[in-house]
Amino acid sequence: MIIADVVLKNRTVLAPLAGWTDSIFRAICRQYGVALVVTEMASADGLVRDGQKSLEIARFNEDERPVSIQLFGAEAETLAQAAQIVSRLKPDFIDLNCGCPAKKVIRRGGGSALMRDLDGIEAIGRAVVNATTIPVTAKLRSGWKEPVVVEACQRLQAAGVKAVTIHPRSQKMGFTGRADWSHIRAVKEAVTIPVIGNGDITSAEDAKRMIDETGCDLVMVGRAARGNPWIFAQIVALLDRGEILAPPTFTERLEQCKDHFIRQRQKDGDYAAVTMRKQIAYYIKGLPGATAFRKELFTQNDPDKVLSAMRDYANYVQSREPVQEIDLK
Ligand SMILES: Cc1cc2nc3c(=O)[nH]c(=O)nc-3n(C[C@H](O)[C@H](O)[C@H](O)COP(=O)(O)O)c2cc1C
Repeated sequence: MIIADVVLKNRTVLAPLAGWTDSIFRAICRQYGVALVVTEMASADGLVRDGQKSLEIARFNEDERPVSIQLFGAEAETLAQAAQIVSRLKPDFIDLNCGCPAKKVIRRGGGSALMRDLDGIEAIGRAVVNATTIPVTAKLRSGWKEPVVVEACQRLQAAGVKAVTIHPRSQKMGFTGRADWSHIRAVKEAVTIPVIGNGDITSAEDAKRMIDETGCDLVMVGRAARGNPWIFAQIVALLDRGEILAPPTFTERLEQCKDHFIRQRQKDGDYAAVTMRKQIAYYIKGLPGATAFRKELFTQNDPDKVLSAMRDYANYVQSREPVQEIDLK
């Protein structure tokens, strides 16, 4: 799979999830085989104002490549300037956020609010493409209220955008209801650039079904990757080799959780005991005794105690690990 001149080793993409997909998590997902990762959205206004926080969000490490930096904003000129700023970091792509439904973003005309004005979206696409030599992509919802995503993507393609990601929910839907994959298919039939399908993939089988039903070139996974980077290895195995991988064992899940915690601690120091809580909750979801362990964890501010609690919990969980069935055929 090739987007612009960038060769991707398979058809999977990690979605940008603000508050979740930081550099550490992106690198972990790359280890499990995801072909492309996208940063959390960085504010174009913040970057142009020299906001260090926005620049921090846009930063990535070399072990994440290929990587896309996502920008959100409302004005073509500001987004173009922001694109020039992040181009210095030499990402593989710059992605335009045309899908965020959050009030604080749409109030200022950014994210999914861009889909109310197709002339505006095309002008933004053109301005950003002209501002940088890095290939530009865009991530869109189906529309504000009514679906307009097909025309929006055609206009972005005309503006020089090199790929589009479709999360087929309207702004009004937020994250409720089901993503209507028929919009992904409609876009795929209407443009020649690669189309990345997104929305409600929770398993390798879902990813395959999305490709079969829509013809999309790549699949993007967001929420289902939280505490579950294995999903990328599972999707690649099914798509590339027709293989169904066994889910990770309890022990593998806790080992990966510990590894994530240790890396986060190197970055956040003691505060990792707080920043990692929600991530840990996803790694242990559905494991025996997870509720009691989560409660214990959520009152713990000392990272050493978190680690020792994790060790005790791992011993408890290991004793309840189901025995793998051996196929004697
Ligand atoms: C907590 C959270 C944060 C998100 N942050 C972003 C973001 O920064 N940029 C973006 O384009 N989409 C963002 N999204 C949307 C996701 O990238 C994705 O389009 C959506 O979750 C649907 O995919 P999924 O069903 O695989 O989760 C976010 C979604 C969630 C739940």
